[in-house]
Amino acid sequence: MKKKFLIILGSGLFLVFVFIGSLYTFSFRLNGKRKVEVIYGDTYKDLGYRANIFSISLANLVKTSNNVDTKKLGKYKVIYELPFKKLVREVNVVDKEKPNITLIGDEQILLTVNSEYVDPGYVVNDNVDTSLENKVVIENNIDNKKIGEYKVIYKVLDSSGNKEERERIVKVVDDIAPIINLKGLKHIIVKVNEKYDDEGVTALDNYDGDLTSKVKVSSNVNYNQVGTYYIKYMVDDSSLNHTEITRTIDVIENVDITYIKGILLVNKKYHLPANYNPGVNAEALSALNNLQIEARNNGYDIPLISGFRSYETQKYLFNSYAARNGYEKANTFSALPGQSEHQTGLAFDVGEISDNYGNTRAGIWLRDNAHRYGFIIRYLKGKENITGYKYEPWHIRYVGVNVATEIYNASITLEEYLGVA
Ligand code: DAL
Ligand code: ZN
Repeated sequence: MKKKFLIILGSGLFLVFVFIGSLYTFSFRLNGKRKVEVIYGDTYKDLGYRANIFSISLANLVKTSNNVDTKKLGKYKVIYELPFKKLVREVNVVDKEKPNITLIGDEQILLTVNSEYVDPGYVVNDNVDTSLENKVVIENNIDNKKIGEYKVIYKVLDSSGNKEERERIVKVVDDIAPIINLKGLKHIIVKVNEKYDDEGVTALDNYDGDLTSKVKVSSNVNYNQVGTYYIKYMVDDSSLNHTEITRTIDVIENVDITYIKGILLVNKKYHLPANYNPGVNAEALSALNNLQIEARNNGYDIPLISGFRSYETQKYLFNSYAARNGYEKANTFSALPGQSEHQTGLAFDVGEISDNYGNTRAGIWLRDNAHRYGFIIRYLKGKENITGYKYEPWHIRYVGVNVATEIYNASITLEEYLGVA
């Protein structure tokens, strides 16, 4: 009986000993931290656990479950379970990669002063977010009226707060050269030993404004010797854009012709010698071409009918009109040789030789726009006693834009403008 009791007691003590021993030697722990981060898209590598009792592994008994999806941001749980104990690890799938902004166009742009800055744009990519295009904030301090270097800054945050910033340099520059406007004609004809009083120029710059006082002039004209010379006008703006323009001065033999205010006057009183034969004036012809282009753009065809006519041609023409209409009558519409403006190379008959031309739409357009190209309607209605000729709405005479505009605005003849009416 006593022996049996001793066995039970011994077994009891053994079990108590084993139980207490197991409490001391049981271990079920996570390897690594309880909260871990894994980068979006990476493979999640679980660090595992340790489960032992009396140095015996309990790994076979542990059930592990995990719903980690590294292709989706968020918090997940990895659960390690023994029948009587459970461990949980928190796995946070995070995005630490910043978005990428690629600029369209150059990183440095030149913008002409006073012109509007139009951003060439950007492309934004992110490893997670698919629609960041509209989230990009663009800041710039561009003052397009002021030359200088400015920055355009592009900023974007992805949904995890990763920030990207790019910048583009915009240089506001003045790359437009000043404009020099000649006062008076581009091509001047003076008689030898007579001086032409240069009317000079004006100069205007898109950025610096009026540069007239900065214009430098160089000239090789010798008014005492027949020849072709030039007066050259040059100006630089503050950005060193350079403009130059020349006026041609033809110093001719002392033929008997009349210039007043630098304008060649030909009428029944002021004549040209038979040997005055300059051909068509290039400046006048080019102005006519430009006038015709604008007329055409407005729907009007204004063809050239007659331009330069030599003394001999005019003689033949006048004689045929005189034979048909009589001298007096012919001289109301046709000039004697030496008295025709056509011999200057500066006059053109255009459109239609018809008294009614001035009432046509093209004729009215010509009347109201010719001055913008440097031409005047030379023989006006109601001014026959001054010009000596009947109204000719088709005969235009080149005098340069400034003079033509003054004459047009005042509705006067060239004779009146020159003070010889
Ligand atoms: N028809 C003009 C006046 C000329 O003959 O020159
Ligand atoms: Zn004519």
